[in-house]
Amino acid sequence: AQEDDYGEESYYSIVRYDDKAKANVEEILQHHWAANKTGLLQTRSEMRKFFNPYKMITMTSDDDTRGQLKRFYSAKAKAMTLIPPGLRKLLPTKQLFSNQYFKTCSVVGNSGILINSSCGAEIDAADFAFRCNFATVKGYEKDVGTKTDVITFNPSILDRFYGRLKKDTDKKSFEERLVSYGKYVLWIPIFSTHYVSRTVHEILEYFNLNFKRFTNVQLAFPGNILPDISDYWLTQAIDEERISTGLLMFNIAATICEEIHMYGFYPFPQFQETSIPYHYDDSRRNKTRNNYDYGYRRFHQLPDEFVLLKKLHKAGIVKLHLGKCP
Ligand code: CDP
Repeated sequence: AQEDDYGEESYYSIVRYDDKAKANVEEILQHHWAANKTGLLQTRSEMRKFFNPYKMITMTSDDDTRGQLKRFYSAKAKAMTLIPPGLRKLLPTKQLFSNQYFKTCSVVGNSGILINSSCGAEIDAADFAFRCNFATVKGYEKDVGTKTDVITFNPSILDRFYGRLKKDTDKKSFEERLVSYGKYVLWIPIFSTHYVSRTVHEILEYFNLNFKRFTNVQLAFPGNILPDISDYWLTQAIDEERISTGLLMFNIAATICEEIHMYGFYPFPQFQETSIPYHYDDSRRNKTRNNYDYGYRRFHQLPDEFVLLKKLHKAGIVKLHLGKCP
């Protein structure tokens, strides 16, 4: 087990493409999908009883952070570093989504099911696109597209893949990654562990030094919002310590999108007759995990989330895309 950015211990176990998984996949593939706008609106208003993304999702320059930190997600996550005033004044003055709505949204997870999917064009055709965990787009354009309006960035990525930006080569590949997103907002969870707070400071300093602005960086408050989101999911019979980043993006999408399309959400090592890697960019896996095995799962239970997505799909609230795009 190792600690993640939320101060939680992750554990891994093998997920198999068993009969149950197979049956769920078949159900999805055989369903004739039709959008259910009323259902989505209903979901949105249910969620709004638990959290308000417009107020809670990102930090602005004039936020009183102490006021925001009323409840921590994890008992261990007690760190509460205030952003130094010099950096804080560079933060955006407006919340990430100030009453914006988008007709269609793509939410892109990182599953290997996207390989050879040819879904890139369809993903990019949406009005708004969410991606997770600084995912690769370069070299995968045909299958995953490039449009990136919001991309989540867990601070540990800076260590895991960019040597904390100490070497020039790491800086260069970090910058190339940023450029590959075009217009983007980096959505960084903050305020969970001391490690995260320190890293976030470093990232802010980096952007300040290199770009003299933070227009592309938003500090997110999942440390604050996650318990509320989990409370919502409890009402939907999803009992997870922490939902996955991908499902978290669905929560945000449900608030700002009129039609939600999800790609790359598939926790199983096999789809029909084809075996697939856990991530479409398999080089991005954490090389320190020597117990990496196909289909490991984190402390969030992706197979349970898959069943949830199946239900949402059948209800017309999201469209879950599996296999090839037309
Ligand atoms: O590391 P983490 O689970 O937060 O995310 P990731 O592996 O970078 O993938 C981003 C999101 O895609 C996850 O949070 C899941 O919601 C989804 N995903 C999935 O459904 N199936 C996979 N095989 C991989 C990711």
